[in-house]
Amino acid sequence: MRAIGQPLLQFDELDSTNSYCKRCAVRLPHGAVVMARSQTSGRGRSGRAWTSPDAGLMFSVLLKEELPSPVQTLPLRCALGVREALAAYVDCGIKWPNDLIVDGKKLVGILCESGVCGAEAYAVCGIGINLDFGSAPRPVSYATDLRVLTGRVPDRMELARAAFSALDRVFASSWTALLPSYRAACVNLGRSVRLEDGREGTAEDLDETGRLLVRCEDGLVAVGAGECQVQGVYALGSGGGSDGTSVSSGL
Ligand code: BTN
Repeated sequence: MRAIGQPLLQFDELDSTNSYCKRCAVRLPHGAVVMARSQTSGRGRSGRAWTSPDAGLMFSVLLKEELPSPVQTLPLRCALGVREALAAYVDCGIKWPNDLIVDGKKLVGILCESGVCGAEAYAVCGIGINLDFGSAPRPVSYATDLRVLTGRVPDRMELARAAFSALDRVFASSWTALLPSYRAACVNLGRSVRLEDGREGTAEDLDETGRLLVRCEDGLVAVGAGECQVQGVYALGSGGGSDGTSVSSGL
């Protein structure tokens, strides 16, 4: 099996590394990484845009042949892997399913998408790490970057290589083996959650497919990404209330 990042395709500008990866999924091999210094149509979850004016490390990993099982854990595995790569610089929490946050602000966004080419299923894991917004406006009030958090910007390729090898490990591990580290890093456990149907409860744990187990008045409910909103994790600037962040993923 090829390692993540072989080959590594680098561009100054793309519409979106995820979109490029999907367009080229037929001809690119398992493990290929597509990286761009800037994106003209960077995509986030729930149809949102991802803007990062030369301020980030942005790449997408193509997985074919062997997708981690169960596949719904892919976004959570990505969060764990990138968290591990960033551990040399900063200690991140994971906002279920896959945002990395520090001091209540978002440092990393992840968009996992799936597709089919021929008879083969594939997945694209898109990762955006905020390195340094400088004087550029933050895309959302609750975004942060590594410069603000650590006073320095790591070498882009060094961080990328660390992420590739951490992703290699989390893709190859069983979810059962990863779950204790995910639990320990997950900032939602013990916090309130609003389900799509209006019920509210407290996030208690995660199950074997990466769903959030929410204790509601009428019992324990397992929710997948996109079926609930986790509350009160992001520290918002003025005008903020509940973070109300949608948590859907493409998987
Ligand atoms: C989110 O938090 O909403 C997910 C953001 C994912 C952004 C990354 S940047 C690299 C890759 N290409 C994209 O168009 N999106 C992902």
